[in-house]
Amino acid sequence: MSDVQEAVDQLLDVNLQEDQRSMQGSESDPRSESEGLRVTIGATVPTGFEQTAADEVREKLGSSCKISKDRGKIYFSISVESLAQVHCLRSVDNLFVVVQEFNDYQFKETKEEVLKDFEELAGKLSWSEPLNVWKINTSFKKKKTKRKKISQNSSKEKADNGQGDRLDEKDVKKESTENVLDSHILDYYENPAIKEEISTLVGDDLASCKDENDESWKGEVNPGVVKFRVTCNRAGEKHCFTSNEAARDFGGSVQDHFKWKADMTNFDVEVLLNIHDSEVIVGIALTEESLHRRNITHFGPTTLRSTLAYGMLRLCAPQPTDIIVDPMCGTGAIPIEGATEWSNCFHLAGDNNPLAVNRAANNISSLLTKNQMKESKLSYGLPIDAIQWDICNLPLRTGSVDVIVTDMPFGKRMGSKKKNWNLYPACLREMSRVCRPGTGRAVLLTQDKKCFAKALSGMGHVWRKVHTVWVNIGGLHAAVYLLRRTPQAFVQSSEQDGERTPW
Ligand SMILES: C[S@@+](CC[C@H](N)C(=O)[O-])C[C@H]1O[C@@H](n2cnc3c(N)ncnc32)[C@H](O)[C@@H]1O
Repeated sequence: MSDVQEAVDQLLDVNLQEDQRSMQGSESDPRSESEGLRVTIGATVPTGFEQTAADEVREKLGSSCKISKDRGKIYFSISVESLAQVHCLRSVDNLFVVVQEFNDYQFKETKEEVLKDFEELAGKLSWSEPLNVWKINTSFKKKKTKRKKISQNSSKEKADNGQGDRLDEKDVKKESTENVLDSHILDYYENPAIKEEISTLVGDDLASCKDENDESWKGEVNPGVVKFRVTCNRAGEKHCFTSNEAARDFGGSVQDHFKWKADMTNFDVEVLLNIHDSEVIVGIALTEESLHRRNITHFGPTTLRSTLAYGMLRLCAPQPTDIIVDPMCGTGAIPIEGATEWSNCFHLAGDNNPLAVNRAANNISSLLTKNQMKESKLSYGLPIDAIQWDICNLPLRTGSVDVIVTDMPFGKRMGSKKKNWNLYPACLREMSRVCRPGTGRAVLLTQDKKCFAKALSGMGHVWRKVHTVWVNIGGLHAAVYLLRRTPQAFVQSSEQDGERTPW
């Protein structure tokens, strides 16, 4: 038997004959083999929103979740038939199927002994069902999108203070034709939330790192050679080994067990080794890229993940016919997520920066086009509109808004801490004017907690803080505040009367 054949044979470890045939193109259906099979799915979620994700899973899949002590992860059991629905969840970033879970893994005393155990681990695990799930999953999995480099316009905007002080009309026009995505900008929101080491490694001697532009990679499983990589996430004080060493030695054991070929970039199977204190979970990745990459085609300097936007919207429990406003919308991540998930509400997106409004408008338009193509029928539009405005002077009637959901300038990448001292109280005041007394809610994200707390302390008559969710955004410790509008009617002070533009 050739090495290639052997590798193929061992891939699924399920039904030798049938799997060989299907790997080589003939149609054996792993679904029929897996009917009624229940598996445990793990999902990474925005930290702080684990409970929101668990609620969504219970609602949509009827499964209860285990929220991991490893913050930012949830686990739930499903029948394989529900796998497609799992990919439709709005609150989860990455998905994996659990191969085995060790709740209290006994690490040996010395590093050599621990690593020796990792070298032998793959052979002791039951891979067949998770690999079958992985195989079924390939038809649901979204392929990784190619990233483009950011245009010069956006870096120009970064030089601007983001508050719309200095803008060039030409930039707005040029931007409207471009579809920009900058991985560095996204990293701002994507860095791992927890203090944890992550290594994707299979050892220098095992891995062959190929050029990312290698055209031979088409994202399909090559029946000849199965390529894999191991990614280790490790968090915990008491480990005598690094994630790098664990990934290398466990990677070696996976390779020995399956005779797969290690490849860091162009892999078919990504094996995960998640270690948190004494909890060890081995899994197989079911997503190539995070599910938060949806909706947005025109990115800005602080584009919010759609999964986080979903969590924020859920916090204020939108009701049919609610008017939901994001008065500082940037690229529109929050209202666009809102319009897709809560289409029985109307969503308004506004920003004082014309570049941001332009991006939001382009994102709305891209989504309309996508919907049109998907449904192959004329689109009837989305319940959303975008407008340029100043949050301190909104063109909206007093008490006309049900919900405000926004991501405020942190004063780091966007705006400045100094400006926040004026901006935050003015925001809260104007939001209290437009928001309906008694039933109105606001969900506000900020990292400038000190400034927010001070601004809120002077507004106790109109806003009541109900709940705080602590989130980690690209390493920044931020807060999402759920506020309730008190029943007290808004009273315009005489000095503000003079400042307001009459609408
Ligand atoms: C943190 S960003 C929002 C990012 C947005 N969530 C996204 O996904 O792109 C804050 C936004 O507030 C806007 N902003 C700052 N001051 C404003 C004001 N006075 N009125 C309206 N928008 C303002 C900025 O232009 C910026 O787009």
